[in-house]
Amino acid sequence: MDRDAQKRTAAEAAAAMIEDGMVVGLGTGSTARFAIEALIRRVRDGLRIRAIPTSERSAAQARAGGIPLTTFAEHGRLDLTIDGADAIETGSLNLIKGLGGALLREKIVAAASDRLVIVADGRKLVDRLGGTTPVPVEVVPFGWETTNERLRRLGSEPALRRGGDGQPFRTDGGNLILDCAFGPIDDPVRLDGAIGQTIGVVETGIFIGMAYLALVADETNVQQLTRRPA
Ligand code: A5P
Repeated sequence: MDRDAQKRTAAEAAAAMIEDGMVVGLGTGSTARFAIEALIRRVRDGLRIRAIPTSERSAAQARAGGIPLTTFAEHGRLDLTIDGADAIETGSLNLIKGLGGALLREKIVAAASDRLVIVADGRKLVDRLGGTTPVPVEVVPFGWETTNERLRRLGSEPALRRGGDGQPFRTDGGNLILDCAFGPIDDPVRLDGAIGQTIGVVETGIFIGMAYLALVADETNVQQLTRRPA
């Protein structure tokens, strides 16, 4: 299986877990996109669900495909959310997310979900977070240079994310993202706390203890990884 086929296979396995009547969180990114595609097909075949998307992109895809959307005002809890990840730590299932820019809504939806199911291709599985991907950190635009400096003092090399047009990338909430390269992270819980307490930070892309299950596809099959108790 090539990488896209792995993403699709993992995403379709997660979409098969969705049952009639569920309130479903829709993730963001190329793997979550395959899951939304699969759910659109299931809804056309009669599956009855309501969904809360984690980005305007995923909302547009779901709306165009006929998945009924809902809000937190109507549903305070979600049954199951399917989302991608940029790195998945084996065992703990701690995650780095946000290379797609939707980390804030993704974390809000994940925290409101009974189960967060992560879908990914095999390259996302790592022994330690931080070695393969920086930590995306969403920050308010005002004074971002000072937030950047504080994050640098925490031991990272932050880079202001830019879009294809060279302009600073803006999240759906109108904020900026600093991609913070820390290198391999020994203590993600401590680092998540330290970043989260930094003035100017809205949210970190480190997701601790949130994933219930990771469906990770490799060349031949889909591994089902559950979280090792802390
Ligand atoms: C979006 O903000 C991210 O958290 C994505 O879930 C993550 O970047 C995975 O994306 P891909 O499935 O495109 O690799």
